[in-house]
Amino acid sequence: MRFQLQHYIGGQFQSLENEKNVSVFNPANGQELAMVPMASKDLVHEAVVIAKEAQKDWALVPAPKRADYLYAIGLKMKEKKEHLAQVLTKEMGKVIEEARGEVQEGIDMAFYMAGEGRRLFGETTPSELSNKFAMSVRSPIGVVGLITPWNFPVAIATWKSFPAIVAGNTVVWKPATETPMMAYEMAKIFDEVGLPKGVANVVFGSGSDVGTALIEHPDVKVISFTGSTATGRKVAELGGHHLKKVSLEMGGKNAVIIMDDADLDLAVEGVLWSAFGTAGQRCTACSRVIVHKDIKEELEKRLLNAMEQLTIGDGLDESVKIGPVINKTALYKINSYVEIGQQEGAKLLTGGKILKDPPFDQGYFYEPTLFTDVAPDARIAQEEIFGPVVSLISISSLEEAIEVNNSVQYGLSSSIFTKDINKAFQAQRDLDTGIVYVNAGTTGAEIHLPFGGTKGTGNGHRDSGIAALDVYTEWKSIYIDYSGKLQRAQIDTE
Ligand code: UN1
Repeated sequence: MRFQLQHYIGGQFQSLENEKNVSVFNPANGQELAMVPMASKDLVHEAVVIAKEAQKDWALVPAPKRADYLYAIGLKMKEKKEHLAQVLTKEMGKVIEEARGEVQEGIDMAFYMAGEGRRLFGETTPSELSNKFAMSVRSPIGVVGLITPWNFPVAIATWKSFPAIVAGNTVVWKPATETPMMAYEMAKIFDEVGLPKGVANVVFGSGSDVGTALIEHPDVKVISFTGSTATGRKVAELGGHHLKKVSLEMGGKNAVIIMDDADLDLAVEGVLWSAFGTAGQRCTACSRVIVHKDIKEELEKRLLNAMEQLTIGDGLDESVKIGPVINKTALYKINSYVEIGQQEGAKLLTGGKILKDPPFDQGYFYEPTLFTDVAPDARIAQEEIFGPVVSLISISSLEEAIEVNNSVQYGLSSSIFTKDINKAFQAQRDLDTGIVYVNAGTTGAEIHLPFGGTKGTGNGHRDSGIAALDVYTEWKSIYIDYSGKLQRAQIDTE
């Protein structure tokens, strides 16, 4: 029997009769894993009403006590880590080692944000008037709508939901249609630890129905979205119309810069991990390598050698390094970019094909692909491909490398390999991205620092770290006058 997923609303697992359902498939072998219901706008409304009601009580629960639930969630995730990772690999395709890493990222976020229950720092300041006290506190905002992607179905959801919850908000979460099972697993955990009803709700459905309904609902005060720049723009437009606070995390076109003094073996490892991990489907994935002309040939040789060792297959096999991409649409989009690259005159060094023969024929596998002699303004060097495709661009100075890095519309992550501390510091200052690595690839963000980017990657907000609390709280400034008389600010100060 097919496994039927259910929405989680007000502490109840529910699916409605006559609700439309769609199948969830394993991208490695096409096997049907589950049926997921597609909520109507009415159901979204119901979830928001319940979340709004629950938020009144939740906001009054002392923050350290709210945090206790996050500790419990973190412990439960730890206990179920292997199970969660297995489900994640089956549903999304990333190799099991990376799935374990992603679940760990969620566990880290739970414990980190639980710690915030005893901080949530505001300011206490002197007043300009005597016998007057001044401070600022973080206040919850209300019901938060979360729209999360399939490429990090657990981690990104925790980056958003945990700070929202610890700060005293309630959430209605719409996970990506491709990865509802991970959201269902998280809903079970919320339920198992006894999170008060209505604090975290999961509603499955399409972006156009459920996503839009969340953005348009007058009682959803904040929308946090991670996904493509095209969809993010629509979210911002609609959210702007409804005067929502909208936090967006969107595309990337991340580059690794390799200078002529770099440790080349290390750089090759860095490129491999950040370009082909998660089959290149990270917002932070390296899709450009900006290499000094004097070491270009040597780098190509070493990269090609290393790429030959990459095993492709079902991510549940521990020896596999590259799993499938998420679906057929993604597979063909990647392939079309490879065709574009060739038409543009870039030189295809390896890869560039959909794997169609057994054992790959039932899944969506793409060969790890390397282009060289790519012009910095070529489409494959400018647009997000979201697959295992890398473009080598050659440069002759650090200044040129930085200029090429910054010449794209995105600004998420960048990296430089060099042994020269001066170059490293200049690069970290001048690279226009929200995340910069020195002597490491473009992936590997840790949860206690802000995650996000400049330009077309975001709209000024950050996931993760303390910065995430800014998305889910309002500042309230409080003045307490204990002088017993009217004291006028700026006037009665003499
Ligand atoms: C994403 O690609 O959307 O730094 C998230 C990283 C991971 C998170 C990636 N920790 O690559």
